[in-house]
Amino acid sequence: MRKLCVVGSGYVGLVTGTCFADLGNSVNLVDIDEDKIAMLQAGKMPIYEPGLAEMVQRNVAAQRMCFTTSYAEGLQGAEFVFICVGTPSGVDGEADLQYVRAAAKTIAQTMDHSLVVINKSTVPVGTGDWTREIIESNQPQPIDFAVVSCPEFLREGSALADFMQPDRTVLGSTNAEAAQKVAELYAPLDAPIVITDLRTAEMIKYASNAFLATRISFINEISIICERLGADVTEVARGMGFDKRIGPHFLQAGVGFGGSCFPKDVKALANMAQTHGMHPQLLNAVMEINAFQRRQIALKAREMLGGSVNGKTVAILGLAFKQNTDDTRESPSLTVARSLLNQGAVVKAYDPVAMENASRDVGGLQLCDNSYSAAQDADALLILTPWNEFKHLDMRRIRRLMKQPILIDGRNMYNPDELRALGFAYRGVGRGFNGEGAAANGSG
Ligand code: UDX
Repeated sequence: MRKLCVVGSGYVGLVTGTCFADLGNSVNLVDIDEDKIAMLQAGKMPIYEPGLAEMVQRNVAAQRMCFTTSYAEGLQGAEFVFICVGTPSGVDGEADLQYVRAAAKTIAQTMDHSLVVINKSTVPVGTGDWTREIIESNQPQPIDFAVVSCPEFLREGSALADFMQPDRTVLGSTNAEAAQKVAELYAPLDAPIVITDLRTAEMIKYASNAFLATRISFINEISIICERLGADVTEVARGMGFDKRIGPHFLQAGVGFGGSCFPKDVKALANMAQTHGMHPQLLNAVMEINAFQRRQIALKAREMLGGSVNGKTVAILGLAFKQNTDDTRESPSLTVARSLLNQGAVVKAYDPVAMENASRDVGGLQLCDNSYSAAQDADALLILTPWNEFKHLDMRRIRRLMKQPILIDGRNMYNPDELRALGFAYRGVGRGFNGEGAAANGSG
């Protein structure tokens, strides 16, 4: 049993803290947001993550976890402190590090014994170095500490499993002994541990996310070409994925990537390159393709509705940036919804868990109780998030409910032939070959 303090109770902090508690450690979770801490103390989750509430409950009951707004309380007796605060995008795409700075400063001012400070937030290369400087210069008297970078690779929706069964753990530090101590914390997870220097660890995180985002933009660009040339991108990706050098993951064409990580991290890496005099051509293209992919959906809707969506009712299924999360940050669905609303459409929407977040971000959405009430009297239906419950909708019923049977399948969840047989005008993403004479008329 080790004593840990986790600063920040967002996705990363809450999942990291809870999982470490579940591994038998004692965890104090600190957040300056009083409302969040009050919620957690009352047993409520500030985020939706499958299995998290139960795991928190279990570890609170076992007295391995507690929540506080006080750094002094959080750091009491702790051997490790994890910085898991947000790093949103600044105006030029640079990571906004005010929360990391503030956390480092408060840790320095509060610590009264030796500590290993571990940075889990995604931060620009070099942050570990200045974190050390901030702590050094803000300590009332010198106390020994070390800074370790341990980037997180958690996916929302499967964060607990990602923590417990990681592909690897990356640790970077100038202090080999501190890195080794953190490695011991992660030892029960039975995954390879890469120990390297601080800057390299920070770069591994950006390079990994940028690479995954590149794969998505790559397949999305291929999808556009497929549409024009009459090929089916889902089959293309399947055929490519058997090649061991390529692999099947992150090759699903769709509405573009969203979420709190990929858009922000690609932007931040490009910004880092630019500020050091480089021209990040590939990263810029990855972002451009992603924006284009979102625009395509609203354009398809307009085209299928005869050139204008003004006054038309469009139903959107799925508002979260992906399935199994209530997170709508950088969600492609919201970009599409805003575009349709701006063009005068009435937008009805349904999502199993993200409606509250979505309606906070986009005004004017007509929220519905389920997929069928969203489809009722709609001129077009757009499936934008691949939730399981959208996989087996009663499409005959949907067809009957809609004013016009127009379906845009932004995640290629349905068989185009089957839907066309039911009378839908169907368009997926990059599925030209099965399109209504798509190869001939150049549409998907
Ligand atoms: C990501 C990284 O996977 C994780 O390692 C990192 O720590 C945080 O960022 P997350 O943002 O939760 O995790 O989502 P992820 O499952 O990676 O999906 C990102 C986006 O890409 C989603 O919008 C998803 O719908 C989209 N996506 C993913 C595709 O469009 N196609 C794919 O093939 C895969």
